[in-house]
Amino acid sequence: MKIAVIGCGYVGLVSGACLAEIGHEVICTDNDSSKIKALNSGHIPIFEENLEDVVKRLHASGRLKFTSDIPEAIRAGDAIFICVGTPPLDTGDADLSAIENVARLIASEARSPKLVVEKSTVPVQTGKQVRRALQVYGRGHGVQFHVASNPEFLREGTAVEDFLHPDRIVLGVEDQGAERQLREIYQPILDQKFKCPVHAGKCPPMPPVKLVVTTINSAELIKHASNSFLALKISYANVIADLCERLSANVDEVTAAMGMDPRIGSQFLRAGLGFGGFCLPKDVQAFIRLAETAGVDFSLLKEAEFVNKRRISAFVERVRKALWIVKDKQVGVLGLAFKANTDDIRFSPAIEVVTRLAREGARIQAYDPQAAERAQALLPDIQYAKDAYATAKGAEALLILTEWPEFRSLDWEKVRDSMLRPLVIDGRNLLNPGKMAELGYEYYSFGRPERSAVVPVV
Ligand code: UDX
Repeated sequence: MKIAVIGCGYVGLVSGACLAEIGHEVICTDNDSSKIKALNSGHIPIFEENLEDVVKRLHASGRLKFTSDIPEAIRAGDAIFICVGTPPLDTGDADLSAIENVARLIASEARSPKLVVEKSTVPVQTGKQVRRALQVYGRGHGVQFHVASNPEFLREGTAVEDFLHPDRIVLGVEDQGAERQLREIYQPILDQKFKCPVHAGKCPPMPPVKLVVTTINSAELIKHASNSFLALKISYANVIADLCERLSANVDEVTAAMGMDPRIGSQFLRAGLGFGGFCLPKDVQAFIRLAETAGVDFSLLKEAEFVNKRRISAFVERVRKALWIVKDKQVGVLGLAFKANTDDIRFSPAIEVVTRLAREGARIQAYDPQAAERAQALLPDIQYAKDAYATAKGAEALLILTEWPEFRSLDWEKVRDSMLRPLVIDGRNLLNPGKMAELGYEYYSFGRPERSAVVPVV
């Protein structure tokens, strides 16, 4: 099928590349022409496992095209995937102006029937507004539009794999034509019949992909409800960590055993600095606002958001207590991205911690395997080191702020010997407290018994 993707951000690029990978002819467009120019010259603007290979290969084959001519893309696609941003407004509501703009453009430029698919995360009932906009601004052309909602559940770092091997595909449709077209688009994934770029064609056995067909309103709600539930789960684990600290239990032991219950599940119970990124925090906010507007009390979610904000303050307080005086202390920071395997620093807890400590006069030396360049543009006044060892050199404290696996396997003896004071404050519970104490570290993390080589202060 011929598919147009509008918006070449993270979701648009991954979706466009994967739809081309499974055999469709895809044309991607964006109103940022510099982005399109870069993509056409082989520059992929985000770090995402497998994406670069897929984009370059399919672009070279002609199955994936990039154009800054939005009307051209609209006319070319039988299906149009809307993948534009819905950033938070000051009120917490999602800003839907880009969605409206795109709907208006589709209405005025389309000359043949179109299936318009919302892929962007939007509040429930946006589909209704999109349909209205298509009707209102498409008058006179006699073009038939179908609208559908097809939320994505892509995690940064594994997005290509998530797209090609999803646990479920949600189709929010209001008519059979839309359902038929979407089934056709996703058939290669439902049958798992494509040459997988992630597993070099040899995919491990996986459960069959579930296809969930719902109304548009339900599909829109499923996305917000899922992300908000994940946020609730993380905040729950973080409160359990606080309890463990007060009552001398170990959060790793507690959450591991909890997760063995299939009704609970083991994922998203990792305690630490809390959730960040461009999805969870904004989706939680938008869902709270949506509930308020609908007259439903969702204090439960408000509390999860509050717990998450408190993580940053609790961590900074921990640093203050351990260092006593923050001003002029050299502090090494390991990790700036909002999570591992991404260069994304949007709403990153690490950035928030660094900002606060820098404001208090700490001399920060930071390292991140992928996100340093982006962080430098945002925080030009701190120092950036070439690797983790250079970050630790001469530091009076080393903070672990992102769960990059490579930090776990550092030569921690070498790190210790290069630090001015062997103090590690681990915001991601990445290291083993007993081992760190054995190595002579003063080591703090969340919700685990402190086993420090010196008298603990927190
Ligand atoms: C999320 C959803 O998982 C995905 O389905 C949706 O499509 C987009 O939003 P992503 O933003 O890539 O994906 O990040 P995710 O892996 O969900 O992690 C979010 C944050 O939670 C990160 O800051 C991570 O460090 C934190 N986290 C995650 C925890 O603190 N503890 C956990 O147990 C899991």
